[in-house]
Amino acid sequence: MCGIVGFTGTREASPILLEGLRRLEYRGYDSAGLVTGTGNELHVRKKAGRLAELAKHLGTHPAPGCHGISHTRWATHGGATDRNSHPHLNARNDIAVVHNGVIENYAALKHQLQEKGVAFRSDTDTEVLAHLISHYYHGDLTAAVRQALALVKGTYGIAVMAKAEPGVIVGARLGSPLVIGVGDDGTYLASDANALAGFADKVVYLTDRQLCTLNETDWEIRDQDLAPVSVSVSDIGAFLGTGDADRGEYPHYMLKEIYEQPETLANAMRGRLEADNATAHFGGLNLSAQQLRQVDRVIMTACGTSYHAAMVGEYLLEELARVPVEVEYASEFRYRNPPLDRSSVVLALTQSGETADTLAALRESKRMGHTTLAICNAVGSSIAREADGGVYLHAGPEIGVASTKAFTSQVCVLTMLALYLGRTRHLSSTQGQRIIDDLHALPETVRKTLACHDHVKRVAEKYAHAKNVLYLGRQYLYPVALEGALKLKEISYIHAEGYPAAEMKHGPIALVDESTPSVFLVPRGNVFDKVMSNMQEIKARGGPVIAVAGAGDREVAALADDVIPIPDVPEYLQPIVTAIPLQLLAYEIALLCGCDVDKPRNLAKSVTVE
Ligand code: F6R
Repeated sequence: MCGIVGFTGTREASPILLEGLRRLEYRGYDSAGLVTGTGNELHVRKKAGRLAELAKHLGTHPAPGCHGISHTRWATHGGATDRNSHPHLNARNDIAVVHNGVIENYAALKHQLQEKGVAFRSDTDTEVLAHLISHYYHGDLTAAVRQALALVKGTYGIAVMAKAEPGVIVGARLGSPLVIGVGDDGTYLASDANALAGFADKVVYLTDRQLCTLNETDWEIRDQDLAPVSVSVSDIGAFLGTGDADRGEYPHYMLKEIYEQPETLANAMRGRLEADNATAHFGGLNLSAQQLRQVDRVIMTACGTSYHAAMVGEYLLEELARVPVEVEYASEFRYRNPPLDRSSVVLALTQSGETADTLAALRESKRMGHTTLAICNAVGSSIAREADGGVYLHAGPEIGVASTKAFTSQVCVLTMLALYLGRTRHLSSTQGQRIIDDLHALPETVRKTLACHDHVKRVAEKYAHAKNVLYLGRQYLYPVALEGALKLKEISYIHAEGYPAAEMKHGPIALVDESTPSVFLVPRGNVFDKVMSNMQEIKARGGPVIAVAGAGDREVAALADDVIPIPDVPEYLQPIVTAIPLQLLAYEIALLCGCDVDKPRNLAKSVTVE
């Protein structure tokens, strides 16, 4: 969360900084700000609210100069106000800092600085950095940044400018991503290579505890002792998300991304299904067939929607590959000390590849000597680079804050992984071939599923006033119930809970009344009759029932108040197909509630703080 862009070169900085921030707004949109330099002057402009507020402000208060740093904020310490917006400056207003991360010991540092007479102008943790760097500054900004950071506990990606060093930007990273861009017109710094597309040709990623010093024509990366380090410079193209980052004809990114799913699923499978051997293969797993056969447990770790995909993965891997799986919230796993044996593989799932808890869980697993894999969408992200091996989703940039296409692609990759592992074990070639055939048909099935949108709109109109909604499913569809509830609450702010349908009787059924609808996931399958009984239990207590069920299922239609029809697919593909109406339902209800679908309150796309 929080995005940083810096530029020093031969062009006006502020349009470049604004465009970069626009592409990073997914990282936070509580406020935005920038500082540019001309000669011996710094021009600071910052505004609470969306980037559009800053752009408007710049219209009347331009920020001249060919070097500058900028920031889009997801508030951690201090409210979303102008004064808490970045950049933050030292008392003499001659050093400016933008920061992504959390300074955990800021209170102690602030206290020490205040005792020395430093007056603070914000409630942020970041401001201590500006004062500390100022304290150590004697004409060498890189040295001062290094000294200041030596006192800091926490995480940071920072960019710093000093009035006395025009054209120089210093950056540093610990836990929050930072990439240098090199272009014809100058040198760049950003939290994500996508911010630099069209500006820079080459990129260099910083790793933790590295510092960099940029000027108009050159850059240098050094370690924490300021010793130069050699790094590899890559073409930026390798790190840019494929796919169109514009909304096109769609009113929201979320809707566009929901409708992209036939294509993103096809992309996830492209070149990975092997009809000859009735299996899947992945170029980047970096595990030999023998190593694979030795894997006797998979620990999946993730957050939020990715965690729900991992839960589906547990059912898939256990059923299709007979491999024991455990799924852990990354935020819990990183601080636990679970007894894992060497043959356990740790698999991190993440759209952004930057989620702080998932990254920390991956690092902890590596430290303990485990093989780590990642299923990731963002190419070149920290997790993609640090895992021992992995699989990209190839879903293209996901801009809507609510994850949609990444979820279905993650489940699709997990299905292929289950096929792959299953074929190294007990799964017959006939079974493998059947799965391949089902997967080949999936993009078209998902296209047909999207035809439920009109039904979904009618259901949304009927229930948009609800204060609470329950989502119920069993087996493969229990994680989808959790995901449906998460989608609704995060974009419409309506309270929603997902449960295994049978678990209702153990408490939550007390919530059921005429004003609390329950969304049942009830396509035909092994537990169909059981879920129907659970539906009866809700109906008997006067609760309205919305059923996501096979098109033309009369038994369901006779019991449910409303039915959203979906095509029939084998049970292991139902999570993908049932997720789609739930994404659409959350979208339509959020619209009716007047919510900002793509940028829901309090959220950010990439959670780089723990
Ligand atoms: C919800 C959502 C979040 C993310 C979570 C993990 O719609 O998008 O719950 O799934 O923050 O993010 P990644 O997958 O980037 O690690």
